[in-house]
Amino acid sequence: MSTRACAIHPSILSADFMNLESELKAISTADAVHVDVMDNHFVPNLTLGLPLVQGVQRVSPIPLDVHLMIEDPDRWAPAYAQAGAASVTFHAEAAVAPVKLARELRSIGSRSAMALRPVTALEPYLDMLPELDMLLLMTVEPGFGGQAFLDLVLPKIRRARAAIDASGASVALQIDGGVTADTIRRAADAGADTFVAGSSVYGAGDVEAAIAGLRAAAGAGA
Ligand code: DX5
Ligand code: ZN
Repeated sequence: MSTRACAIHPSILSADFMNLESELKAISTADAVHVDVMDNHFVPNLTLGLPLVQGVQRVSPIPLDVHLMIEDPDRWAPAYAQAGAASVTFHAEAAVAPVKLARELRSIGSRSAMALRPVTALEPYLDMLPELDMLLLMTVEPGFGGQAFLDLVLPKIRRARAAIDASGASVALQIDGGVTADTIRRAADAGADTFVAGSSVYGAGDVEAAIAGLRAAAGAGA
């Protein structure tokens, strides 16, 4: 069993958007709700923006983990921190001044987080670890729920775990995409501690049991 704490963040991308309030209540045993913001430019899909995220913030029983798949996060991300999100994640590929942005998010009171696409190299960003509260390694190409987990990211998860441990910084290591009771074990084994799951939670008959099942599988895998 793992001694590492594990956090489950269901993604509302797979929820029923017409019944968001009850869909949020259904995941109240999770650690945070993952909110995917897409702008149809950084990724070929469009979801929700700031006014809806503010609405989610008002009714959610658990903290918000906002994942921005948008261009120009330097301009748009701070407003999500001001809306009360517990963490705001921007993509390294889209940020012009990631250190400045991470510091700004923290100064507003949110956790700062940065995401990398599946084949974006980790190494150029290692000096940024002390500026981050969470590093997100995408395990699918961002844009859509329901895709298959990319095992090719596992070595990067291992390298990130080693770098975080060596740095001594307190940085959560999150993965997002294709997380199931099966793949979560491999990711936990590689060193991830925070797991986003959309279709495997909201696609399950019993959402609460799905969250518990993922938690147990992550604990058994690490
Ligand atoms: C995809 C999003 C994910 C998505 C994951 O780009 O960032 O958060 O909701 O969905 P599943 O768990 O179905 O792969
Ligand atoms: Zn996401």
